[in-house]
Amino acid sequence: MKIIILPDAHSVCGLAADIIAQTIRQKPEAVLGLATGRTMEAIYAGLCERHRTGQVDVASITSFNLDEYVGLPKNHPQSYRHYMREKLFDSVGVPEIRGHVPCGDALNPDQEAASYDQAIAEAGGIDLQLLGLGGNGHIGFNEPLSGFRTRTRVVALAEATLAQNSGMFEGDPDQVPKCAITMGVGTILEAKSILLVATGAAKAEAVAGSIEGPLSSVVPGSAVQMHQECLVLLDEQAASGLKRRASIEWQMKHDPELSHLIGQYCS
Ligand code: GLP
Repeated sequence: MKIIILPDAHSVCGLAADIIAQTIRQKPEAVLGLATGRTMEAIYAGLCERHRTGQVDVASITSFNLDEYVGLPKNHPQSYRHYMREKLFDSVGVPEIRGHVPCGDALNPDQEAASYDQAIAEAGGIDLQLLGLGGNGHIGFNEPLSGFRTRTRVVALAEATLAQNSGMFEGDPDQVPKCAITMGVGTILEAKSILLVATGAAKAEAVAGSIEGPLSSVVPGSAVQMHQECLVLLDEQAASGLKRRASIEWQMKHDPELSHLIGQYCS
């Protein structure tokens, strides 16, 4: 696991967009694992901007989103399918057939989940998985106590997540669907590389648990410690709970890959 800490969320999201754009330039038909949430909005805006100005052509990617609320039809304004169309797919021309999001209103959600894993495998696996982090340490909708070998499946959302995501549902946790289909932790760990992005003080505890805590299903984000190609991007606020800053800063300075990436954002 490699870690980069930048001064603010703006720089973090800019670097994340650059890394994704570079992946697509190297492999225009890359298979991306995509995430939703507020953190991702600036990243997708950055990617759309790079597409619009001809720095990268995003149209040929195939993507698999991490999760979707059970019960929401795809045109529902709070569905993650709708989010992805609005924030990325429609602007860069990714058609529905290649921009996969679990079908929240599938007649058989368990079957939908199993087919999703199969579709990822048939696409050749995920080249780069973008991940956010829930305030309770969840990745996708893998809530605390999600096993590290779990597959895409139907899960119940934690109280903390209902509260965290209620902002999208008129601030009312009761309106947030109680279940979701999420890629499993095991599914996520099969990606060839992972880019985990967290910004803001509300993520500090989850970040510390994921990076410095013991491997534990209580903090599903800690599973990324086991991945060979995982890059974590943090702003100062999200990094504020870390206790081992010195070794992170040493790595940022001496790892050629990291110092190259950081160069343009910290002058
Ligand atoms: C939702 C998504 C997660 C995401 C999290 C963080 O719960 N299912 O994949 O990481 O939100 O959201 P935000 O970036 O809004 O804090």
